[in-house]
Amino acid sequence: MIKKHPFEPFRIKSIEHITITTRQEREEACNRAGNNLFNLTSDEVMIDLLTDSGTGAMSSEQWAALMRGDESYAGARSFRRLKKNVEEIFGFDYFLPTHQGRAAEGILAAITLKDNNIVPSNTHFDTTAANILSRNAVPVNLVIEEGGDPNSNHPFKGNVDLQKLRHLLEEEGDNVPFCMVTVTNNAGGGQPVSIENIEGIRKICDEFDKPLFIDSCRFAENSWLVKLREEKYSSWSVKDIAKYMFSLADGATFSAKKDAIVNIGGLLLFNDKKLFKMAKNELIMREGFPTYGGLAGRDLDAMAVGLQEGCDESYLKYRTEQVAWLYEGLVANGVPVVGPPGGHAVYIDAGAMLPHIPASEFPAQALSLEAYIEGGIRGVEVGSVMLAHTRPDTGEIIYPPLELVRFAIPRRTYTESHLKHVVNTMAKVAQNSTKINGVKIVEAPEFLRHFTATFAQV
Ligand code: F0G
Repeated sequence: MIKKHPFEPFRIKSIEHITITTRQEREEACNRAGNNLFNLTSDEVMIDLLTDSGTGAMSSEQWAALMRGDESYAGARSFRRLKKNVEEIFGFDYFLPTHQGRAAEGILAAITLKDNNIVPSNTHFDTTAANILSRNAVPVNLVIEEGGDPNSNHPFKGNVDLQKLRHLLEEEGDNVPFCMVTVTNNAGGGQPVSIENIEGIRKICDEFDKPLFIDSCRFAENSWLVKLREEKYSSWSVKDIAKYMFSLADGATFSAKKDAIVNIGGLLLFNDKKLFKMAKNELIMREGFPTYGGLAGRDLDAMAVGLQEGCDESYLKYRTEQVAWLYEGLVANGVPVVGPPGGHAVYIDAGAMLPHIPASEFPAQALSLEAYIEGGIRGVEVGSVMLAHTRPDTGEIIYPPLELVRFAIPRRTYTESHLKHVVNTMAKVAQNSTKINGVKIVEAPEFLRHFTATFAQV
């Protein structure tokens, strides 16, 4: 029996129309888009699960806060309101607003990295990895083995393998300027990291005298899952868990487009005054004056309110139960999904669902197209289109271990009937899965091909 859909702790005040399309219209749209869902217009999509980033619904309090926005170039009241909430939740000594998460990553990389440096993490998100690579440094992923196993039910599949981290620091410590950990581990399935694991990372960082930075995009969802899954913290508040987690680190990057439920915004946070000063100079060059970063004053106010709302426990309960509800609905209908449910998305195991399609014919891309044609749902391929690469020495194509389609759930945006439509659509796709064909690439750029490549049925 699937559980009841969670009670939404909000009601709808303003709505956005969804264009209802026919199967024929969606087939035509797919053809025009070169069978790449990134090329669709949003009007062609009925349920948009491409990302949970910047796609959430702001509250009436956030819209009201926008009106209070102080657009003074320097020293705006909006900054002071944001500062108060950032200090309460993150607790670092210094912070800078940025226009989004990758801007914070870019500044951190600019002030800390040299050629051939190594930055370990559980799994770097692709913009973090790209910012590290752009400084001729190397991102290294050290997630625990269970993190890559779709059938493992480990409660903290985002944890760092501490033995591997220690080994890396023993071998290459001189080349490691800082360590990172991503909460939740988006690239690894939205899976949480335990506080015990972060304490372990801290201890190793202390031994080797390395700073620790948290990629904290989904810190509130991670803290909520810690409260549910790590017994020691079951009676702690989410804010106390978050504050304790941040106290174990020396700094953080943050995309406010996730757990601060705004459409744009980010933060870069530090305890080290010297690093903060260097970052401030970079910020002024790239983003703007330190009391607004790359944002308007009103954006700072919306973020200030969103940070509090993102930590609200009735909201987080609903949020994670909604993700789990979708997960369980899919499982009950024979759709293979990566478990256990994480914080912001479900990941469908296209490799398991379409075993007749080899990786060279992109089963996850084929599945994402089928979900769109069957029900107007837009997910994102996280398989060989996005991740396969060619070995420069042998020319051999290295395929990723998993072929996944991510359905990311925008915050406070879709209702039970929308997600029921997702379950029913995918149940039908699963029933007819043997009839789904693979695809081949018609045209693709050399890097980040998933955004712009075009495909044809084989
Ligand atoms: N770190 C993580 C873990 C992320 O998931 C993202 C963005 C970023 C950094 C970069 O933040 O977009 O504000 O520059 N993730 C989005 C996604 C794009 O769809 O998962 P940004």
